[in-house]
Amino acid sequence: MTQDRTDAPAASTEASGGAPASPASSQDDAQARPGLSRRAALGTAGAVAGAAALTAGGFAAGRATASSLQTSAYDFFGSHQSGIVTPQQDRLHFAAFDITTDSRARVISLLRRWSEAAARLMTGSELGSGAAGGAYAAPPDDTGEALGLPASGLTITFGFGPGLFDERFGLASKRPEQLIDLPKFSGDTLDDQFVGGDLCIQACADDPQVAVHAIRNLSRLAFGDAAIRWAQLGFGRTSSTTRAQDTPRNFMGFKDGTANLRAEDTDLVDRWVWADAADGQPWMAGGSYLVARRIRILAEIWDRTSLQQQEQDVGRTKGSGAPLSGGSEFTEPDFTVTGRDGEPLIRPTSHVALAHPSANGGAMMLRRGYNFTDGADALGRLDAGLFFLAYVRDPREQFVPVQNALSSSDVMTIEYLRTTGSALFAVPPGLPAGSVLGSEGAYVGQELFT
Ligand code: HEM
Repeated sequence: MTQDRTDAPAASTEASGGAPASPASSQDDAQARPGLSRRAALGTAGAVAGAAALTAGGFAAGRATASSLQTSAYDFFGSHQSGIVTPQQDRLHFAAFDITTDSRARVISLLRRWSEAAARLMTGSELGSGAAGGAYAAPPDDTGEALGLPASGLTITFGFGPGLFDERFGLASKRPEQLIDLPKFSGDTLDDQFVGGDLCIQACADDPQVAVHAIRNLSRLAFGDAAIRWAQLGFGRTSSTTRAQDTPRNFMGFKDGTANLRAEDTDLVDRWVWADAADGQPWMAGGSYLVARRIRILAEIWDRTSLQQQEQDVGRTKGSGAPLSGGSEFTEPDFTVTGRDGEPLIRPTSHVALAHPSANGGAMMLRRGYNFTDGADALGRLDAGLFFLAYVRDPREQFVPVQNALSSSDVMTIEYLRTTGSALFAVPPGLPAGSVLGSEGAYVGQELFT
């Protein structure tokens, strides 16, 4: 039997700003079902264990009023996977995996186990018999560190790396042309331990323990079929993915995410984030491509740079985040405005000037990155920075040109940033509401294998 992690009281059934019970729109995972009662969810979900059926209807049963971010729960089901246009949570645990089996059937079995487990974890439920149930002589089904914690807005997003399409699984003809081997960009100082991966899982939550619990238990379920190649913890989101969210600050101290694509920009999100069958691989329709870049910020150098220089390098003010051409945070940058010296107020070599759509054929992306700090290096410098995550419809037209521009001209990128990790994943669409999970059931990415 499946355990819920807390005894949270079932709350009222009407969510304030909650998502529809059976989401189907293109932005269906943009809104939480705040305060989803794990008891209510378990009313259905808890009744099914292991190979048994778990349907979207079960999760829709218990919508409730939000009392805090931590109690939010998102639907696993929808036309897109959660964790993309979902309001960005504050914590991340990301893991890239190597597939360690040559068996296509075992990969499918793994994706079934992962899908079923992810649906449970996102409700705040424990896996299987939980951490304190089950056979006394066997390891518990769940590691237990999230027992007693609410769903915490957990989203779990699965991605497929280029290695899934190699000779092992007969999928080469289904590799999307958008899933390129990312080039080495000028200035990249990649460390092999943070590069690539056959599969990935992005777990985001408002409680780090919940995100870590998800990755730990999903990697445990992969034992024998896939192993973690590298992983990254993130704290403090560096983007906003909905208009209701405040713009957070990155490790450089600047507001980050001001000009991001947001869930409400449905036309732009359709244009720049969601893959379409006409893009070449029908199994990716409703999916997206995830660029992951571990970018170290040389804080010791940045922190000795004048405020004027910092603002010129970014192209925005540090306080309000307004463009240097004037206005307030959300005023569009005007690259034609010049100062008394006749120079553009927003330098052409600034980050904003080079990354702006007007410099990149209109290309936009949905950034969803996190701050990270992983201790210090041998010279006593912080190993910290920005774990850049961005969802795009075609990395060749969106990420690559912008990164090339930044690598060659962006003062900020050249002087203060060192990219140490890099990977690209095809993120398949979500599972429709009503999908039945289990050992013979539906799984994320199933259209790829049919
Ligand atoms: C440590 C690395 C980075 C830092 C600290 C950083 C910081 C910032 C800041 C402060 C802004 C202005 C606020 C905003 O509009 O969000 C910004 C904007 C932006 N950045 Fe970055 N960024 C980094 C890396 C990247 C990378 C690798 C890319 C893509 C290749 C990128 C693409 C963008 C884009 C597209 C914008 C919006 C430009 C606009 O439309 O005005 N950034 N970034």
